[in-house]
Amino acid sequence: MDVATEVVRWQETHGRHDLPWQNTRDPYPVWLSEIMLQQTQVVTVLDYFPRFLVRFPDVESLAGADLDDVLGLWSGLGYYSRARNLHLCALAVMRLHSGSFPQSAQLLQTLPGIGRSTAAAIASLCFGERVAILDGNVKRVLTRVLGFSGDLASSANERQLWDEATRLLPLTELMQTMPRYTQGLMDLGATVCSAKKPSCEVCPLARACVAQRLGEPQAYPVKTRKLKRSSQSIWLLWAQAEDDSVWLGQRPTPGVWAGLFCLPWFDQREALEAAVPASYRTALQDTQPFTHVLTHKDLHLHPVRVQMPRSALATAQGRWISPPEWARMGLPAPVRKLLLQG
Ligand code: ADE
Repeated sequence: MDVATEVVRWQETHGRHDLPWQNTRDPYPVWLSEIMLQQTQVVTVLDYFPRFLVRFPDVESLAGADLDDVLGLWSGLGYYSRARNLHLCALAVMRLHSGSFPQSAQLLQTLPGIGRSTAAAIASLCFGERVAILDGNVKRVLTRVLGFSGDLASSANERQLWDEATRLLPLTELMQTMPRYTQGLMDLGATVCSAKKPSCEVCPLARACVAQRLGEPQAYPVKTRKLKRSSQSIWLLWAQAEDDSVWLGQRPTPGVWAGLFCLPWFDQREALEAAVPASYRTALQDTQPFTHVLTHKDLHLHPVRVQMPRSALATAQGRWISPPEWARMGLPAPVRKLLLQG
């Protein structure tokens, strides 16, 4: 059985065809959707993607935007390095490629934020290039079909899987088959070959699938290395002025929430107190702490509220920002939620 032929045929009849970034070979919306979809579910992207395109309809308008506006539109999607790289990538396309995305995966991969798999997705979907994608979903599909039991924590095994993925690609009529094959593998991974309960009974690759024959598709992919998670306690100074504006400052780069606007952040409560004028320290009010989970660490957030006149806080870096203004700015999702409650 030819895996590529089956995937292409299945995509035509059972795959997804009406997502707003499909049915185009324009690399701008395809690139934008691939970046958004890297760490975010389709349903969420369906909300953000059209708004982003209305505001920035082409690579030129995105390159000409203020980074803060891009971060503002990205607000709530998380993994903000994606938004910073998006902006850098648009600038690079304007300056280095005269405003047109390069048409090969090899060149696309030199742009900010575009890794090997994303470059291959754009090049195959838009230009029919014969190159393999290998994101998390596709790794699951291919390791199962092949019965690939090498530990993907090892880069040698990962390289071998890339080679296998390349070997399986369609060989003919690439302009038609490559976009369907790439989309088909993504669709299979998202809808049929799920991590915990794969629906092998409807899978077009079931007859060829080694993992299915062995009766344990869930055993693939094999990856041993566990993320070492850390945790950190943070005190946030939630200062509010008489007109309801709050004091916000931009987070340093690099670091957690780099470039986003945030309440002043302190590693210790004593440091927060020291930043508040002495006459307002007794007015500090602790609010319910909560945990925000990032990729590599749990943040234990302790917001401390205080009412003070605008003139009282001038030393710390940042400024008083009114509710309608911060609502449009790039704020970390938990900080935005907190302010909306207050
Ligand atoms: N995930 C990553 N790329 C995707 C795409 N083009 N369609 C659906 N889900 C995806």
